[in-house]
Amino acid sequence: MQEVYMKWEPGFNLGIPEIDNQHKRIIDLINDLNKAFVENDTNQRIGKILDELSEYADYHFKTEEKYFEVSNFPLMNEHIAQHEYFISKVEDFRKKFESGQPITFRLMKFLRGWLTNHILDADREYVVIIKPRIH
Ligand SMILES: [Fe+2]
Repeated sequence: MQEVYMKWEPGFNLGIPEIDNQHKRIIDLINDLNKAFVENDTNQRIGKILDELSEYADYHFKTEEKYFEVSNFPLMNEHIAQHEYFISKVEDFRKKFESGQPITFRLMKFLRGWLTNHILDADREYVVIIKPRIH
């Protein structure tokens, strides 16, 4: 299996460096998962990666939501609902992992799908609204 599971695509760029850099960070985490999977070392590493993912979701979503508030983004509630869905999915994965189920590959697939759709669709909706508020 390939070493790099997900690559940054130019189409992911929103032109907001703070948020683009955070999105790049989640791609790194997805590739860390892949590496653990390929090296058959998920039991050792996945707990830590899940912690990083929860921490990541917390600060990344807070960053976006802070800009929604200052710019009165009209789709704020729908967007925040997507963030909450993500957080609950990660918690589901954590529970499954803690009960001994193999989750790595499904978690990678979920993250790659979620990130791709979320950036290309939901995140694009706020760019024109929040960009003028960022200095
Ligand atoms: Fe978002």
